[in-house]
Amino acid sequence: MATVTFDKATRIYPGSTKPAVDALDIEIADGEFLVLVGPSGCGKSTSLRMLAGLEDVNGGAIRIGDRDVTHLPPKDRDIAMVFQNYALYPHMTVADNMGFALKIAGVNKAEIRQKVEEAAKILDLTEYLDRKPKALSGGQRQRVAMGRAIVREPQVFLMDEPLSNLDAKLRVSTRTQIASLQRRLGITTVYVTHDQVEALTMGDRVAVLKDGLLQQVDTPRNMYDRPANLFVAGFIGSPAMNLVEVPITDGGVKFGNSVVPVDRDALSATTDKTVTVGVRPEHFDVAGPDSDLGVAVTVNVVEELGSDAFVYGTAKVGSETKDLVVRVGGREVPEKGSTLHVVPRSGETHVFSTSTGARLSD
Ligand SMILES: Nc1ncnc2c1ncn2[C@@H]1O[C@H](COP(=O)(O)OP(=O)(O)O)[C@@H](O)[C@H]1O
Ligand SMILES: [Mg+2]
Repeated sequence: MATVTFDKATRIYPGSTKPAVDALDIEIADGEFLVLVGPSGCGKSTSLRMLAGLEDVNGGAIRIGDRDVTHLPPKDRDIAMVFQNYALYPHMTVADNMGFALKIAGVNKAEIRQKVEEAAKILDLTEYLDRKPKALSGGQRQRVAMGRAIVREPQVFLMDEPLSNLDAKLRVSTRTQIASLQRRLGITTVYVTHDQVEALTMGDRVAVLKDGLLQQVDTPRNMYDRPANLFVAGFIGSPAMNLVEVPITDGGVKFGNSVVPVDRDALSATTDKTVTVGVRPEHFDVAGPDSDLGVAVTVNVVEELGSDAFVYGTAKVGSETKDLVVRVGGREVPEKGSTLHVVPRSGETHVFSTSTGARLSD
């Protein structure tokens, strides 16, 4: 087992001037499950492929444990990768697929069989070992791809969107299986997904990328509670955080009629006339109809989820009309067209610089 270090690792594709991954700095602990997340094209696969040795590194270094692997070929890195399309050999049985890398490495037949059977037991594949991939369900194929990685007992697992070919329900159950399997095996894992829910539920820590640049690397809880900038604030959480640009008045910040606390030094450091206030849908309290706090939201659409509901509405904040999303209890659902007075809960607001996007509040 081993740590993994991206040390200002940079990839510039031939013919491009802009790095696809720009000075990526992450230190991953031994046994950690780290998730790389971000929108399509942000550099997740490139980062993973640099670690795998499938992509040249044009600047910086990559280390596994204390070995500098920056320019080592993939086979010398002691890693195993699970791809999105599984890349199973159609003409081979499940057992042969799982043992193929060991066969290439010259491991003897008895030992291969033993490792394949062990992995099959862990993955609930024992009864399918003699089948061909086409006679398996999507979820079973996904587990064969996992099995192929497990039998190699690598120092690091790399997974690039391994669940994206599964239907929604299977994706949810499989992500729990992968996370618990990883914890059991204790093998350092770097996992790529574009799905922020998958990232938050699976990762010990989550690294958010945008345009090849690392935005924040943190535990799911910290990422949610203290997003480092506007991009992370809008990307993590569903429905997304409400982000509203409001004027700075007398060194303070107001959201409707509510005062939002923000460090005065942070405000005086900016020459901006506005800041962006963020409130998650679940961080509004509903006030009485006569309340003069917060804002009055006109209810446009209500999305009922049983246990709770999301109210999509518009509100005048300052001089502008804004769309807002508010979560309410499942038994306190307002009528469409009615007015809902909401107050951002104290201690649950976020303030960002409108111009740089940087977090200004604590
Ligand atoms: N082989 C390649 N040649 C040139 N550009 C590439 C290549 N692969 C990816 N890119 C570009 O690099 C950026 C990052 O791609 P990628 O790492 O695949 O993103 P992600 O996996 O986050 O969707 C994108 O702009 C993409 O178009
Ligand atoms: Mg990708």
